[in-house]
Amino acid sequence: MPQPTTSIAIQTDRLTRSFGSFVAVKALNLVVQSGEVFGLLGPNGAGKTTTIKMLTTMLPPSSGSAKVAGHDVTTDSVGVRKRMGYVSQMISADGALTGFENLLLFARIYGVPKAERQKRIDDALHFMGLTDARDKLVRAYSGGMIRRLEIAQSMLHRPQVLFLDEPTIGLDPAARHQVRDRLKELRRSFGTTILVTTHDMEEAEDLCDRIAIMKSGVIAAEGSPEELKRQAGTNSMDEVFIHFAGEFSDATNYQDVARARKTARRLG
Ligand SMILES: Nc1ncnc2c1ncn2[C@@H]1O[C@H](COP(=O)(O)OP(=O)(O)OP(=O)(O)O)[C@@H](O)[C@H]1O
Ligand SMILES: [Mg+2]
Repeated sequence: MPQPTTSIAIQTDRLTRSFGSFVAVKALNLVVQSGEVFGLLGPNGAGKTTTIKMLTTMLPPSSGSAKVAGHDVTTDSVGVRKRMGYVSQMISADGALTGFENLLLFARIYGVPKAERQKRIDDALHFMGLTDARDKLVRAYSGGMIRRLEIAQSMLHRPQVLFLDEPTIGLDPAARHQVRDRLKELRRSFGTTILVTTHDMEEAEDLCDRIAIMKSGVIAAEGSPEELKRQAGTNSMDEVFIHFAGEFSDATNYQDVARARKTARRLG
C-alpha cells in the first residue's frame, strides 16, 4: 500500500550514462517517495542496472544528477553509501565463508560499531530465516538462502533505501515468495524504501506500489500496477509489459541475455 508521506527517497534529474557513443540511460527523471516499493522493469539491456549503479555511486553519471536519501550521488557519495543498501544482480556472497562470516565482513565494511555487530548479525539472520544456517558454508546454501543472506548483508547498517537488482532471478516459486515476503516485511518493520528490478510482472504487481517500465534507456510508462493496466487496456501484467516495452527490444543483445542467464544458473 502507498504510504502517506511527502519525503522523497530517490530523485533523479536528467540522469544520463553513456558508454562510448552508446547512451544506456537517457535523461532519466525519477521520483521515489520514502517508504515506497518501486519497481524498475524493462527488457534486457533497457538500462536498469546502469541506473542502479549510478544511484548506488558505483558508476558516475555522464550528465544529470541524482539524490538518494537527500544526498547527491556525485558530490556526496559517502553520504549516499551510509544510507543505502545494495543487492547486486550478480552473486556477492562468498561461498567459501559461512553465513555468519559473510555478515561479519559486511558489518565491518558498513562500519557497524563493534559492540553492536553480534546483535545486528543475529537479528538479520533471524529476520531472513537463516539462523539455523548461520555456520554453514554459503556454497552449501540454496539459491533462495543466498539471496536472503545478501539481503541480510545489505540491511545490517539499517539503510533508508535498499536497491535490489533482480533479487528473485533463478529462484523456484517458493524461494521467490520467501524473498518477496521478507522485502514486504522490511518495508513494514523499518519503513525502508525499496527500489527493485525484476522480469516477473506478476511479482512486480504483488510487490510494488509503483512501477516504471524502461526501454532503451528511457521510461516508457510509469504508475501503479492498476494505472498501468488501465493505460494498456488489459488485465494482464505481462500484456502491460508487451504494450509498453514491445515483445523484443533492439537494445537486447547476446551479452545481456547471456549475463542474465549466468546469474539465474548460479542461483538455480
Ligand atoms: N560497462 C559497459 N560498457 C559498455 N556497455 C555497457 C556497459 N554496461 C552496460 N552496457 C550496455 O548498456 C545497456 C544497458 O545495460 P544494463 O545492464 O543497464 O541493462 P539492464 O536493463 O540491467 O538489463 P538486464 O535486464 O539484462 O539486466 C546494455 O546495452 C549494455 O550492454
Ligand atoms: Mg540488469
